[in-house]
Amino acid sequence: MCGIVGYIGKEEALPVLIGGLKRLEYRGYDSAGVAILNGSLEIFKSKGKVANLENHIVPERAHGNIGIGHTRWATHGEPSDVNAHPQLSQNGNFTIVHNGIIENYDLLKTDLEAKGYTFQSETDTEVLANLIEYFYNQEVEVSAETAVQLALSKVVGAYGLAVLCVNEKDKIIAARKGSPLVVGLGTDAYFVSSDANTFVEHTNQIIYLNDEDVAVIQHKNFTLKNIGNTPVSFKISNVNLEIGELSKGDYEHYMLKEIYEQPNIIKETFRGRLKPEHTEIVLGGLLNVFPRIKEANRIIIIGCGTSWHAALIAEYLLEEYAQIPVEVEYASEFRCRKPVISDKDVVMLISQSGETADTLAALQLAKDKGALAIGICNVVGSTLSRETDAGVYTHAGVEIGVASTKAFTAQVAVLTMFALKLAKAKGTISDADYGVLVKELSEIPDKLASILLDNEKIKQIAAKYLEANAALYLGRGNLFPVALEGALKLKEISYVHAEGYAAGEIKHGPIALVDDKLPVIVVAPQNEHYEKLVNNIQEIKARKGIVIAVVTKGDKRLQKMADDIMEIPTCHPALAPFLAIIPLQLLSYHIAYLRGCDVDQPRNLAKSVTVE
Ligand code: G6P
Repeated sequence: MCGIVGYIGKEEALPVLIGGLKRLEYRGYDSAGVAILNGSLEIFKSKGKVANLENHIVPERAHGNIGIGHTRWATHGEPSDVNAHPQLSQNGNFTIVHNGIIENYDLLKTDLEAKGYTFQSETDTEVLANLIEYFYNQEVEVSAETAVQLALSKVVGAYGLAVLCVNEKDKIIAARKGSPLVVGLGTDAYFVSSDANTFVEHTNQIIYLNDEDVAVIQHKNFTLKNIGNTPVSFKISNVNLEIGELSKGDYEHYMLKEIYEQPNIIKETFRGRLKPEHTEIVLGGLLNVFPRIKEANRIIIIGCGTSWHAALIAEYLLEEYAQIPVEVEYASEFRCRKPVISDKDVVMLISQSGETADTLAALQLAKDKGALAIGICNVVGSTLSRETDAGVYTHAGVEIGVASTKAFTAQVAVLTMFALKLAKAKGTISDADYGVLVKELSEIPDKLASILLDNEKIKQIAAKYLEANAALYLGRGNLFPVALEGALKLKEISYVHAEGYAAGEIKHGPIALVDDKLPVIVVAPQNEHYEKLVNNIQEIKARKGIVIAVVTKGDKRLQKMADDIMEIPTCHPALAPFLAIIPLQLLSYHIAYLRGCDVDQPRNLAKSVTVE
């Protein structure tokens, strides 16, 4: 959460910073700000999005070749101009942009207050700015980077930060611990950012900073040390990003574009892995560790949000086909317990961004206990992908809409391949079943594309129910996680209270909510649970509830029974989650759109949750 950007080079810094901040808005959009270092330090910041910040910039004061910027997801202090970053130190020597949380900020603040410092904002970041200034003022000889190192040695918590010092006008100091930070190497220029996509049109050469790295970035020089001032070696990596991936194209929103990308994305996820002859599934990233996975006693799958829903789907596949015990955990809760883990366990961490703070902390815990840690991740080069023992990329491309869509189906694609591969290796699936599933899996992209043809119809259904102020989503078996994901999609972008429930549980509470105003979305394609879901639908209709059913194409029975239906093609029941989620994604998109909500940047949310 929060995005930071920095530029030092020959060009004007401001356009680079503003362009970068717009790309980083998926990380938070409560406020935005920039600082430009020329003869003096010019800071512009305001509550709201980057577009609003642009109205507050005085162009004639914003010239300069060095600058830093920030887009905020508020933690300490409400979204306001004064709490926006960059934060300035008391005497104006230092300005700082920061992503993360300084956990001991209260203690540090009290110490600084005792030393005469006063504070303008409620942020933990201002405390850090003043702490750096305090060390800088201690002795004449102290450089800005030393002051930053000394301050960071006192900090408990997480940070990705960039600092400017008014007395040392030729440098940006950048540091990270727990929050992502990359440095881009351009022609006569350096960039620093929370995400490499910020400067993709300027360079594809990047350096990923590691925890406790402190970089000093100058016009023609880059040095990397740690907090203790020991030099640190670094590697220059190439990122392969197409600038087109970052635009909306002809779509009104990123979310809609990303929903429509799914057939191609899934093909991309399968490419080189799901062989055309359907004999072998190749997951190159797991090659070296596969023998250990095959011998594992148990797989623990960990994620947050949508990634956790993908994990739940994997549980059904792995238990049924690979016959291995599976536990699915919220990363945040996994850390709250004292989980019993051994080196016979495989801990699988699922994350689109690869930067979710709780997931990374769970990874650390798993590694400390000696488990094999494997990552299922979308963002190439992310912390998760670098710190797990092995992993598989989902290849969903850049996902910008805060509500995850294509990253989810790509996760399910990887997890399905993984489950089938493991089942085959363990001999727990018959050759016939394996052959059928692999063949059907390769047909999923075309089936997804056929569902998208119903977009207009789904939009009309959305128009009927957009006044509803709550919705219930029901499913059974591997479609229960789809119900959860459908409900999450609706609540996060349209602010309609939505709950996903295991259909068998409705009599234990949710049925009390049913009346003639509550839409109940029932995921009920033809499978072994179909008759039970038909019963659930009867129970809802008997209480005058509104039923919108996701059904297998041609299901006349539910067409009669339900108020509205959304159809999906026939498919193997194990693969139904791929298809059933598509109408639910479209339904929430249209409801949010028709309610006038900010679909891509819903209130209070951020795409990458880098604070705990
Ligand atoms: C946020 C995003 C969700 C995402 C979750 C986990 O809540 O808005 O879309 O599912 O974080 O993120 P991750 O990057 O770890 O998958």
